[in-house]
Amino acid sequence: MALLTPLPFVTRVSAIEFDARSLNMPDEVEVIRGLRGVYFDTTSASFVDGEQGRLIYRGYNIHDLAENSTAEETFYLLMYGQLPTTSELAAFDKKLKGSREIPDEVISVIRLVQNAHPMDVLRTAISALAGTDPSADITDMSVEGSRDKGIRLTAQAPTIVAYHHRIRQGLEPIGPRADLSHAANFLHMLTGTEPTEDESGLMDTDFVLHAEHGANASAFSARVTAGTQADVHAAITAAIATLKGPSHGGAAEEVMKMAMEIGEESAAEKYVSDVLGSGGRIMGFGHRVYKAEDPRARHLRARCQKLGEERGDPKWFRILSRVAEAMEPYKARGIHVNVDFWAGSIYHLLGLPEDIFVSIFALGRIPGWTLQVTEQLDNNILIRPLLKYEGPEDMEYVPIHQR
Ligand code: ACO
Repeated sequence: MALLTPLPFVTRVSAIEFDARSLNMPDEVEVIRGLRGVYFDTTSASFVDGEQGRLIYRGYNIHDLAENSTAEETFYLLMYGQLPTTSELAAFDKKLKGSREIPDEVISVIRLVQNAHPMDVLRTAISALAGTDPSADITDMSVEGSRDKGIRLTAQAPTIVAYHHRIRQGLEPIGPRADLSHAANFLHMLTGTEPTEDESGLMDTDFVLHAEHGANASAFSARVTAGTQADVHAAITAAIATLKGPSHGGAAEEVMKMAMEIGEESAAEKYVSDVLGSGGRIMGFGHRVYKAEDPRARHLRARCQKLGEERGDPKWFRILSRVAEAMEPYKARGIHVNVDFWAGSIYHLLGLPEDIFVSIFALGRIPGWTLQVTEQLDNNILIRPLLKYEGPEDMEYVPIHQR
């Protein structure tokens, strides 16, 4: 097994006991804003090699998994730590398929909040599922019990997203089909049409590529929540809330909006220079850890090109390619295309609405969040950093009628 090179960061803050009675902050405190480069624990789940642009799940290179594995097999690998045998995979698949239904109470919740953004609906429905989960004790924080709940959520979340999308259009939800794979079933519930092998293969690869990514903001949220011994539903609800923002999962939606605003490939260069010139950012570029190409992006790039040609709609690939060309000089600053850059146009070409793009990311990431939670629980510790106080002290309290 090859040894992994650790990221060249060191934790620079010395351990300091905070004394609430004295506001004297020790001089040696160095604040690491955004926890950039700080290691807070160890993991055997995944390795994001930002310098070389490598991503490894449980020792396996993402390129091998993207080309050879399936969502179900990758989810098993992540959650159980090793590739499954044929019978293990069959049992896991059966468990997923048997858990796809969501209870009527949760469908009512979806109807109630149907006008909200799909991520808000997903977050609310996952939270509501805590009230109907079949586990004997929802607060069971054992690794096994938590993994089981995570498997159920992995199976139920696509049903939530698909039901919501149909309900908000005034259509009847289409129930899950046990003869379809995780990816194909999702597309079928969403569109009412059985996807082709190519379409379900694309969604399947997308789930593989999004399944796990170390201590990103949403996984960190999940760990912080699990660290307090709150349950898996709470941790995944927190993770979904964190994924929503455009600096994290929301970028795919923003990329597609950008492509539409650009409109034609000849306008891409000017658009990029206008955005950058006014101090803005190009969505789908840059990453906190990757300072080389995001290894997930290349799989989606090739698929975006192929799908666009097959559909007779190569425009989006061409516009985005021109944006990428205009961003070439930024490579020298470590700003490269990230996974979200091509994902949005693929979803668009599959006929999916922009506002569910980030929910699709969440569906792929639930196995990763689950494993982050179980890993946290396996050797749990409350995650509780410090803030360096820079406010006033010795203020005199003045009663309200004297202010
Ligand atoms: N376009 C232009 N410039 C950029 C971009 C971008 N997309 N991303 C970073 N930069 C520049 C910043 O302006 C900054 O420049 P400065 O030093 O001159 O001020 C420098 O790069 C560093 O930027 P930070 O925000 O400090 O880097 P950080 O690591 O915190 O940000 C982030 C990472 C949030 C992803 C950022 O690159 C970004 O906003 N990208 C656009 C949104 C996006 O695509 N998000 C998806 C991320 S991938 C994912 O979550 C799956």
